[in-house]
Amino acid sequence: MQIPYGVNHNMTEQQYIRAPKGLAGVIVDQTKLSGVDPSGQATIYRGYTIDDIGEHASFYEATHLFLYGHLPCEDELKEIKKKIDYERGNIPEKLFDALKLSPITHPMYYGSYGVTLLGQYLAPEWDFSDETLFDHAIKLIAKIPVVFTAGWHLARTGTLIRPDPTLDHATDVLRMITGRMPNKVEARAFESSLVLYMDHGFNASTFTTRVIASTLSDMYSSIAGGIGALKGPLHGGANEKAMEMFLDAQEKAKAKGVPLKEYIIDYIKDKLAKKEKIMGFGHRVYKVHDPRTDVLAKYVKQLENGEYWLEVLKASEKVMKEEKNLPANVDLYTGVLYYQLKIPIRMYTPIFAMGRIVGWTSQYIEQVKNNRIIRPTEEYVGPTGLKYKPLEERCKQ
Ligand SMILES: CC(C)(COP(=O)(O)OP(=O)(O)OC[C@H]1O[C@@H](n2cnc3c(N)ncnc32)[C@H](O)[C@@H]1OP(=O)(O)O)[C@@H](O)C(=O)NCCC(=O)NCCS
Repeated sequence: MQIPYGVNHNMTEQQYIRAPKGLAGVIVDQTKLSGVDPSGQATIYRGYTIDDIGEHASFYEATHLFLYGHLPCEDELKEIKKKIDYERGNIPEKLFDALKLSPITHPMYYGSYGVTLLGQYLAPEWDFSDETLFDHAIKLIAKIPVVFTAGWHLARTGTLIRPDPTLDHATDVLRMITGRMPNKVEARAFESSLVLYMDHGFNASTFTTRVIASTLSDMYSSIAGGIGALKGPLHGGANEKAMEMFLDAQEKAKAKGVPLKEYIIDYIKDKLAKKEKIMGFGHRVYKVHDPRTDVLAKYVKQLENGEYWLEVLKASEKVMKEEKNLPANVDLYTGVLYYQLKIPIRMYTPIFAMGRIVGWTSQYIEQVKNNRIIRPTEEYVGPTGLKYKPLEERCKQ
C-alpha cells in the first residue's frame, strides 16, 4: 500500500489499516452502553437484552439505566422523573419565537436548529464536569420533543401545543405531536418505541455524535450533528419511507380490489425487479433478525387495525426473506405503529430522535470521559504535481 498523503510519515506501511468501505465490521472503540448482536438474540442495553427493556421499562427507567448504568431504585426513579418532567415544561420562550420563523419543511430541521439554539441559551460556556454533563443530558432528553413538536405546529398552524409537566413523558410527547390525549395502550406502545430507539451501538448518528464529541465540542453541537445523520433515509428516515410504501401499495391494492396482504407480495417483487431498495428491510449488523420488531409486533397488534397490519408486515417479511434473504428492521414496524397512532408521517424520524437522544447523550459522555480525537486517514487517489496557472492561461485547447 502506498503511504497516504498528509499523515504521520514515522508510521511504516504495515502500520496502516485499510478499513472496508462504510467501515463495515471495523471496531473503532469500546462502549459499555449497548451492543448489537448479529444473530438478533442478544442485543444489549447495559447488560439487559433490548427486548426485555423495550417491553418492560418506562422511558424514565431506561433513561436512568443509560445515564447512570443501573435501573433506578424508587427514590432515583422519582428524582429522574421529576427532573425530566420539569425540564420538558421549562423551555426558553425565545426558542418558540425563533421556531415561529421556520418555514414548513422537514421537521428534522427544527431539531438540529432548535438544539443549537438551546445550546446558545442554556450552555454558552461549556465544561466537562459530571454535574454539567448529566444536567445537560437530561435537559436535552426532556426538551428535544418540545423542539420538534413546537416547530411542527408553529410552522403549519401558528399554534403552540405547550408541554404539560404533570403528564408522564411519553404521554405528554404523544399528546404534543397529535394534539389529542392518548389512551393508556397508545401511550405505552409509543413509550416502548422510544425505549427501543434509545441506543444501538455505533450506528451512523451515534458515531457522528461521538466524532463531534471527540473534538471536545459541546453536547448540543454534537447532538445537532447526530440529528443531521439520522435524517437520511438509509438511517432514521427509513420509518417514513416504509410507511409511504405501504400507503402507496394500499391505494393500488384498493384500485385493483385485492387485499393489501396479497398485493404487497407482487408490489415488493416489482420494486426489487427494478433494483429499488425496500425501506424498513436490511441492516448493517442484523442479517437474520432485528429483535426490536418482536416487541413492536405485540404493540401493533393492540392498536387500531392491528391484525390487518400484522398480516401485511408478515407477508412483506416473507417475500423479502424469499427474494433477498433480508430481515425487517425496527423502522418497518415503527412506521406502521406511528400510522396506527395517527401521527403525521414526517414526524416519524423526529420521534426516532426523541428516543435516540438518550443514547446520543450517554455516548457523548462516554466519549469525552475517555477521549482521543477521532481522525482517520484517507488514501488520496487524485492527480498530483499540478501547478497553478493564471486565469488567462487556463482552459486553453
Ligand atoms: C440498512 C442498510 C443501509 C444497510 O446497508 P449495508 O450494510 O451497506 O447493506 P448492503 O447494502 O451491503 O446490502 C447487501 C445487499 O442487500 C441489498 N439490500 C440491502 N438492503 C436492501 C433493501 N432494503 N432492499 C433491497 N435490497 C437491499 C443491497 O442492495 C445489497 O445487494 P447486492 O449485494 O446485490 O449489491 C440497507 O440494508 C438499506 O438501505 N436498507 C433500507 C433502509 C433502511 O431500512 N434503513 C434502516 C436501517 S435500521
